[in-house]
Amino acid sequence: APLIVTLDGPAGVGKSTLARKLAGELGLAFLDTGAMFRAAAFTLGEGAWDWPQGVLQQKLGAFEFSLRGSGENTELLLGGQPLPEAIRSEETGRWASKLAVVPSVRAYMKMAQIFLGRTTSLVAEGRDMGTVVFPDARHKFFLDADPDERARRRCRQLEGQGRPADFAAIAASIRQRDDQDRNRSIAPLKPAPDAMLVDTTHLTEGEVLEAVLDRIRG
Ligand code: C5P
Repeated sequence: APLIVTLDGPAGVGKSTLARKLAGELGLAFLDTGAMFRAAAFTLGEGAWDWPQGVLQQKLGAFEFSLRGSGENTELLLGGQPLPEAIRSEETGRWASKLAVVPSVRAYMKMAQIFLGRTTSLVAEGRDMGTVVFPDARHKFFLDADPDERARRRCRQLEGQGRPADFAAIAASIRQRDDQDRNRSIAPLKPAPDAMLVDTTHLTEGEVLEAVLDRIRG
């Protein structure tokens, strides 16, 4: 059976960076499940969270996510195409978070993620990988960090890309998304009972990678 490593945690905690590096070290593909929710939000547009379940089901039924390559170069494709850079905006993140409480959307995503993990060894990164989608994963990790530190990291990341970064707005957006993700009744953000907890507030990316690799390699 494919090897599955799960990585869950709140927005801006460094999951994507870690997932990519971990996949590189272990020679697995990485699956950014937030990007799947973002791609759905971006493609369906604002307000899709209020559509009837049947309409959402039908629209999502036409989606086709796939993975190409492995390690750091893994690509997530939708309908055979790379995802647009625009899915990375804070606005699309908030839309994704709203769409993520809709039962038919969660059911679709879970099915699509399990399907990808059936044939491909994965580092699967998101909010409910260890709790809902891959409860039998070999290794589970839950990352957390102080919210202001997460907002600072997100600002640095944006500035590194030459994009404007407003700390107050980003901190507020992160807090809003955290509340939504932790307090929803369906697949709330929380550690799986058998996940290793890693508080990354005072750790460098390299230190987090080392801690996680140590655990995996025993
Ligand atoms: O991780 P990222 O910030 O890209 O995720 C965007 C949003 O998608 C999250 O705020 C969350 O509401 C939702 N999500 C989810 N379950 C996942 C991954 C993301 O509900 N496994």
